Amino acid sequence: MSLLNEIEELRSNFLIDLKSVETSQEVETLKVKYLGKKGPIQQLMMALKTCEKDQRPKLGQLINSLKQEFSSHCESSLARLNNQEQLKKFTEEKIDITLPGRRKRPGRAHPITQMLDRCISILKEMGFAVQHGPDVDSVFYNFEGLNFPPDHPAMDMQDTFWISDDMVLRTHTSNVQVRVMEANEPPIRVIAPGRCFRNETISARSHVFFHQIEGFYIDAHVSFADLLATMNEFWSKLFNRDVQTRFRPSYFPFVEPGMEVDIKCTCKTGCRICKYTGWLEVCGAGMIHPEVLKSGGIDPEKYSGYAWGMGIERLALLEYDIPDIRMFTENDIRFLQQFS
Ligand code: DAH
Repeated sequence: MSLLNEIEELRSNFLIDLKSVETSQEVETLKVKYLGKKGPIQQLMMALKTCEKDQRPKLGQLINSLKQEFSSHCESSLARLNNQEQLKKFTEEKIDITLPGRRKRPGRAHPITQMLDRCISILKEMGFAVQHGPDVDSVFYNFEGLNFPPDHPAMDMQDTFWISDDMVLRTHTSNVQVRVMEANEPPIRVIAPGRCFRNETISARSHVFFHQIEGFYIDAHVSFADLLATMNEFWSKLFNRDVQTRFRPSYFPFVEPGMEVDIKCTCKTGCRICKYTGWLEVCGAGMIHPEVLKSGGIDPEKYSGYAWGMGIERLALLEYDIPDIRMFTENDIRFLQQFS
């Protein structure tokens, strides 16, 4: 059979094959069959070499235009079938084009982050600078420098995760105090927000990790009245009302005197949140112990200071009336979406 006849036969075979193609996948197969490296077009090209020399240019042209014809048939079938297939998929999925569009939900800060940010911005406005301490810290900064005597039972007040004999996961943000004192001269007015860790049984009220903000102010003649005024102002600003505070004596090795700060509950008659006492415990506070000032290289004869430390989870529980601290770490989107 002459090459010319072969070309004609190939064309008609191709057109027959093309007619029976029903899916885009089949078009791809057809493409490979006719236009692939081992396909008939390629074979015709090879056969060209055995033709009469003067016939070659004409036959070559014919083969090339056949090739183009095949591929343009394939491309247009492919476009048509792809379209059909997509439409079919849509109708099978029963897309209801009358439905409203899907709303994009912007992200938002975690309620704990929101509470941290609120506290930090108020305290910054009040003149405190933010300092961060390490989550993994030495026994010195977490305990000894803060006047916890070595092996003193007071260390058991804070069940500790030990990393080694002298390294711990910090049990409180008070670990920042001595570090900041070492690096700065009074006046020092610093807050230290961050994560803390305690080896406790997880329950509705306590968790192995939580957040605190430590605040302290050291200068000549800092007095208890300054602490009182700072507490009143801060708590009033945070809760956006005139907050009444009360101080109860308490023991923390790093302050003397040490106390627990309560704020008056908004309820008139006693409620579940204040456990019917009318008061909410919000932080520990006191006048910085002279030994702690000395640990930080500050002369307690010349300077004095106050410090306080507050748990952020507890504040968020109070603010939003959340019954269980574990909800903060469960990543339940339905819970988190409520805090915009
Ligand atoms: N560090 C204490 C704790 O985690 C809280 C605290 C109490 C901090 C009294 C203070 C303070 O600065 O004066 O329980």
